[in-house]
Amino acid sequence: MERVRLGIIGVSWWTDMVWPGFSQASNAQVTWIAGRTAQKARDYAQSHGIPHWTADYDELIAAPDVDAVFIAAPNFLHDDLARRAFAHNKHVLQEKPMALSSSIAASQAEEARRRNLVLMVDQETRLSDGVRDLPELARTRLGRIRKVTVGMTLAERTWGGWRADPQLTGGSLFEMAIHQLDLARWLFGRNPIAVWARGEDTAGKDFTAVFDYGQGDSAVIDFCWRSIGFHQRIEMYCEAGFVRQEIEMPVGDGFRTVVTPDGVERGPNIVGVQTERTFRRVLEGFAAAILEGGDPPVPAEDGVWAVRMAEAARASLRTGVPVAF
Ligand SMILES: NC(=O)c1ccc[n+]([C@@H]2O[C@H](COP(=O)([O-])OP(=O)(O)OC[C@H]3O[C@@H](n4cnc5c(N)ncnc54)[C@H](OP(=O)(O)O)[C@@H]3O)[C@@H](O)[C@H]2O)c1
Repeated sequence: MERVRLGIIGVSWWTDMVWPGFSQASNAQVTWIAGRTAQKARDYAQSHGIPHWTADYDELIAAPDVDAVFIAAPNFLHDDLARRAFAHNKHVLQEKPMALSSSIAASQAEEARRRNLVLMVDQETRLSDGVRDLPELARTRLGRIRKVTVGMTLAERTWGGWRADPQLTGGSLFEMAIHQLDLARWLFGRNPIAVWARGEDTAGKDFTAVFDYGQGDSAVIDFCWRSIGFHQRIEMYCEAGFVRQEIEMPVGDGFRTVVTPDGVERGPNIVGVQTERTFRRVLEGFAAAILEGGDPPVPAEDGVWAVRMAEAARASLRTGVPVAF
């Protein structure tokens, strides 16, 4: 196999977001697309040069010219679709969250491992410009990370459709904050030991979650839904300096400030998280793991941990007490 043949399940605004990067991947090509609505799948295939389309997800999964499946259907379908793909020996690039409970996520990861299939989760923030070099910045200049804060500021809104039902999304921690939970754990390079959270895991409602990483280190994930725009701030406080990375979501401006004993540096504008470059890295990294072996950029284990963190933070929100991992 020289290029991974990918089938995409889901036709939506989100498919439009990933497509520019996916279609540029050097080691993969999209051969099938499936949507619940036949006409949308057909129109998308025809307008994007995808050879095959279907309204039957199982037809795509079983197709002989599909090696791997990208599951971009609603959250409550992720686990079942992944297992249906595994049963046909297909690798899976899973949208976040990989499942609606950590036990199901862990068993999904175990099933992929048992069958020797690649399972990657599309928690793409760590692959984006302005973010992917942060561990290297700490290692080479800023020193040991002591605290991470990730702040999200959004205009007030509510969700419609399946997103309005927390049973189908998992709530705002599973649907949105999972990116920031994954980011903090990835920056620390180890697992948190406890979380305490206050607020509500509902679109339009604020929450703050504090993760204890032991040894006095912590990550604060803070969502304010009653402001303006859609803005992310990543702050990484280290023993020899700190960095603040601004990111206008999904593809706007992003400025960086680095502070060390030598002074304050302001970096160039780094545009966006959900860009063509990011999604090209997502698919190329997934395909490379299939073609060459090794871990994909976001291994299933990291997807399981992100779900575990969302679940524990939600439990703390509801009970008001810290939850240990
Ligand atoms: N990684 C990220 O940053 C990121 C960002 C955004 C979204 N996502 C994820 O992408 C996934 C899709 O989100 P979306 O907004 O694209 O969802 P969506 O538009 O509601 O649905 C996506 C696709 O699934 C189909 N579908 C909807 N309900 C279905 C059902 N009950 N049974 C079978 N198929 C169904 C839709 O068909 P119809 O068009 O006929 O409804 C559409 O083809 C979610 O898991 C979301 O979390 C990830």
